[in-house]
Amino acid sequence: MKSKYKIGFLGMGTVAQGVWRHLANNHAEMSRRLGADYELSVACVRSAAKKRGVEIAPERLTENPEDVVSNPEIDVVCELMGGVETAFKLVKKAVENGKIVITANKAMLCEKGAELFALLEKNPKSQIFFEASVAGGIPIIKSLREGLVANRFSLIYGILNGTCNYILTRMERENATYEAVLEDARRLGYVEADESLDIDGIDSAHKAAVLAYLAHGRWVKLSEMIVNGIREIRLEDMLWAREFGCRIKLLASIKRDSETGKISVAVYPALLPLSDVVANVNEVFNAVALEGDLVGRTVHIGRGAGQNATASAVISDIADAFRALNSNAKYVSCHASNGVEMMPLKDIESSFYMRLSVKDETGTLAKIASIFASQKVSIELLEQKRHVNANEAWLILTTHKTSEFAIREACKALEESEQVLEKPFVLRIFEDTQA
Ligand code: NDP
Ligand code: HSE
Repeated sequence: MKSKYKIGFLGMGTVAQGVWRHLANNHAEMSRRLGADYELSVACVRSAAKKRGVEIAPERLTENPEDVVSNPEIDVVCELMGGVETAFKLVKKAVENGKIVITANKAMLCEKGAELFALLEKNPKSQIFFEASVAGGIPIIKSLREGLVANRFSLIYGILNGTCNYILTRMERENATYEAVLEDARRLGYVEADESLDIDGIDSAHKAAVLAYLAHGRWVKLSEMIVNGIREIRLEDMLWAREFGCRIKLLASIKRDSETGKISVAVYPALLPLSDVVANVNEVFNAVALEGDLVGRTVHIGRGAGQNATASAVISDIADAFRALNSNAKYVSCHASNGVEMMPLKDIESSFYMRLSVKDETGTLAKIASIFASQKVSIELLEQKRHVNANEAWLILTTHKTSEFAIREACKALEESEQVLEKPFVLRIFEDTQA
């Protein structure tokens, strides 16, 4: 056991600066809480000359990642640079060099998790901690891995992207434009370097993959999930969703079918009943609802992005890293055994909300109804709304439960119909199967 552990950083951006500042400014107190003294050793960045929001002596900055991952003095490597290939190459090297690695990089975990965890088996001195990779400051990884270790999970769902929740909340509350709110989210440090990861649902899917791994022991690929983002949602959809007693949220869900044992992983903007606590989680907050066979329902809420909330999660990993270094304790990354099968995407069932722009003329409703009937999709509710253009109308409808395949076929047929003027816009209605 060393008297002081050295921490190296890959990246010194939003998250890393939060970690550095907190550990530098509260050294004595944090050493006591983390169970060991530490030194903030060196940080690798793209440009050492760049001005940063945290004070770091120039000799502690490098542009050479080898100064971190192959530095024999460094015990703990915090990978907070983002991206997949370079980050993975460096994390791999750190693991091979026996370092404890901490990462907030859900994209890398999702794409390289299987390889990375196989590599850890061959490098028993190394360990990897990733609390900040899912749901920002909520200690959801620790909850799944430790506090809820006794459970099998039939359902996990929630809001896993702070940026999208912030955008949807402010659009609905203030009638703010999507672009204006996105700009605020960037300024607040919520948004990924590649912001389409947030907006198109991919970041939530990366996080869902990490949760699915922890709960079911399988690294689910993006191609095995439904992944939709929030780009096409209009303010009108939010208002009309409210008429159905719902709010639109970008949801991630991991469901295990009770009969077949197969799992489905999906990310989509969904109508969620206002009676669901998750529907009332707003702004940058995330929520994760878990249904465990022993514990029943637990719901975890907290800030899902931003400097301090994420730094809080990274520092909790540093506590685990020091504990591991002090005592050679080995943390189990996942308790579930692999072998779970995926539900084919086309067979996944839900109810749907649909917005259709149609010709406002005799026969339209009959034609639309016949298309739904021919695809065996049953309409539950249907309402006509006034359109800004004369001779056009909005049809807003919800369906009874139907398969992804059936709704896709219905949309194709609608799009080909003369009465329908725009591509149908579809949202799923989230059903809490365990409620
Ligand atoms: P930033 O873009 O703010 O920071 C990235 C840092 O990495 C910068 O210091 C940059 O250097 C450095 N960097 C990037 N590429 C390289 C490279 N090839 N070589 C050397 N240095 C490099 O990102 P964030 O801090 O926002 O995010 C970091 C990670 O944390 C990501 O994986 C992200 O997904 C994750 N995360 C982020 C959250 C957030 O709220 N922001 C929340 C939870 C997780 P330079 O400064 O010189 O450009
Ligand atoms: N861009 C991510 C989000 C950061 O908005 O949730 C936290 O992972």
